Amino acid sequence: MRQKLAAGNWKMNGTGPALVELQELAAAHRATRSEILICPPTPLIHRAAETVSGSPIAIGGQDCHVETSGAHTGDISAGMLLDAGASYVILGHSERREDHGESSETVRAKARTAIAAGLKVIICVGESLAQREAMNTLDIIAGQLSGSVPDVVTGENLVIAYEPIWAIGTGLVPSTEQIGEVHDFIRARLDRRFGEGVGGSVRLLYGGSVKPGNAAEIFAVSNVDGALVGGASLKATDFSPIIAALDTA
Ligand code: 13P
Repeated sequence: MRQKLAAGNWKMNGTGPALVELQELAAAHRATRSEILICPPTPLIHRAAETVSGSPIAIGGQDCHVETSGAHTGDISAGMLLDAGASYVILGHSERREDHGESSETVRAKARTAIAAGLKVIICVGESLAQREAMNTLDIIAGQLSGSVPDVVTGENLVIAYEPIWAIGTGLVPSTEQIGEVHDFIRARLDRRFGEGVGGSVRLLYGGSVKPGNAAEIFAVSNVDGALVGGASLKATDFSPIIAALDTA
């Protein structure tokens, strides 16, 4: 059985006062059946990890560098994330692919480095609206998967997040049929490449405008093992009902 995962990506939001949201989440979900993960901005990781210490909440980074150390001003290594208290890192988010020109090849190299350092990786894939309208969604996903996922993965160290770019921060959400089609496709691709033992244990998250009001419906879709949530993860009052919906899915 795959343990469900409710992951929050705070993106470039939050300073010290936001840690109170983590205290609230930790208090409200002591008996959660799902795994809970928050990926705050890097300067908050250490304090976030201390805040949730002893609770079921894990902390993750939002990116890391391909190299383990060196002359890369402003960048963060996988080992630094781990040292600060993170156990996960998000890689290949569409905002990084777009804003920083990250290719699938780069994402794959980062994933290899992060896994070698001892982090679990959440690799993001997803099509643009133009690609969906051109009926290219599954081809795009297949290419991103084969390009971004390294060979060294296991069911424990890999999570895939399907995040259609057009659904991120827009309030638009694919139909449950569309989500199911892509998640079933990702599962089949992982099974084929890694065998059903590994493929069947990788968790698949949906991301893109997940809210308290639509979470239960999304969590009922086949091969959806949780969510990667942006805006609605910033406040405990929004993220809590999403976690509760996952617990009962
Ligand atoms: P929203 O939940 O704000 O649409 O963001 C989704 C996302 O990009 C999570 O990584």
